[in-house]
Amino acid sequence: MSLFRKKNVEQMIASAERTGLKKALGALDLTFLGIGAIIGTGIFVLTGTGAVQAGPALMIAFLIAAVACALSGLAYAEFASTIPVAGSIYTYSYATLGELAAWIIGWDLMLEYGLATSAVSVGWSGYLQSLLAGFGFTLPTALTAAPGAVAGATTLFNLPAFLVTMAITTLLSVGVRESTRVNNAMVAIKVAVVLAVIAVGVFHVQPANWRPFMPNGWHGVFGAAAVMFFAFIGFDSVSSAAEEVKRPKRDLPIGIIASLAVCAVLYVAVAVVVTGIVPSPRFADVSHPVSFALQVAGQNWVAGFIDLGAVLGMLTVILVMSYGQTRIIFAMSRDGLLPRRLSRVHPRFATPFTTTWIVGIVFGLIGALVPLNVLAELINIGTLAAFSMVSIAVLVLRRTHPHLPRAFRCPGVPVVPLAAVAACVFLMVNLQPITWVAFSTWLVIGLAVYFGYSRKRSVLATAAR
Ligand code: ALA
Repeated sequence: MSLFRKKNVEQMIASAERTGLKKALGALDLTFLGIGAIIGTGIFVLTGTGAVQAGPALMIAFLIAAVACALSGLAYAEFASTIPVAGSIYTYSYATLGELAAWIIGWDLMLEYGLATSAVSVGWSGYLQSLLAGFGFTLPTALTAAPGAVAGATTLFNLPAFLVTMAITTLLSVGVRESTRVNNAMVAIKVAVVLAVIAVGVFHVQPANWRPFMPNGWHGVFGAAAVMFFAFIGFDSVSSAAEEVKRPKRDLPIGIIASLAVCAVLYVAVAVVVTGIVPSPRFADVSHPVSFALQVAGQNWVAGFIDLGAVLGMLTVILVMSYGQTRIIFAMSRDGLLPRRLSRVHPRFATPFTTTWIVGIVFGLIGALVPLNVLAELINIGTLAAFSMVSIAVLVLRRTHPHLPRAFRCPGVPVVPLAAVAACVFLMVNLQPITWVAFSTWLVIGLAVYFGYSRKRSVLATAAR
């Protein structure tokens, strides 16, 4: 039974109310926070991969991914508004599904946030190189991408991706957190860039490019949806701000759903426009497909503006993802599931300094050495698995704690959470077999660590003894 030992929900809520973090965020701040974490490599880079796979039906792939996120988001929102504690779904599941499930989710989230840092740094690198090329600078080919990332070119190490991760790690390790003001500025830049793509691009659309609409049939569309899910990851970061929200029970669900909705509309519009400008197969191996579309349209100035906006805007996504990663490890270490050293706080900077650097170096190297498509699939499978477990946890919490105050109740229980699980599993099934192999290996390693190390050392286990 010890596998199912749980944290006490009521105690968690009470201690969250005591932490004394300033409660300053409202629904609009949260929506901006979400958009800041969502818009990044997904729309700016993976759009190319998605277009090759789905053709112009990429717009449908975006919609499918958005529906899966919205269903999961509703479950997420119920959790966030019921147990408003930092630490995201790892903490929620510890209180509902028990320690083993919490461990698996935490282990999954390490895959999500850590590799997302790597993936976004790769996307950033593509746009930086496009921007520099506009000024006539090019890097030696070997240093432009991971080995095997570009067909027909010998690439060895993605230097810009590695350097940007190191820069962000330096900031995080000395305690620079993203401020609301910086985030709002970045959101404004990213949304402006996306709107510019739509507003300028729409005049260069040639409807002939939309035919054939589904060159690879539904198979291609579903595969693309499973990849493009990546573009929506980040809306979950809204829930991790729970302790700093003025009216969490009302504002959290609004923040999650509104940020998803805004991004879904923007993404579908971008997909419509770029597949209308460029015949979809031409996106193969293009590392900056959105600005590429504008270049094809002859709008070089706008393309340069897009490169610059993407380079600036993606920085916050890298920051948010690395921050999330260090905090998940921090929470798991504090609970005794990972070595205590990892939650040690630096005396001067008051940050988990060692953890931040370990994470930065490991995922910086991964970003430099692994192609983006491989990373995106791995991140998606980990995140989809975690989201499915959250939806199940909502159902469990309704049974185990029926009377807990819930300002936001997920509508249509149990249909909506079950539909969320079905949608997540459906997307997982549409990922490549090799991704499943890698994911299963990761899980097996995780279980070995849990049974060999964490189970005996967990704080709850020690307390029980
Ligand atoms: N959704 C985030 C991005 O696309 C992770 O970069």
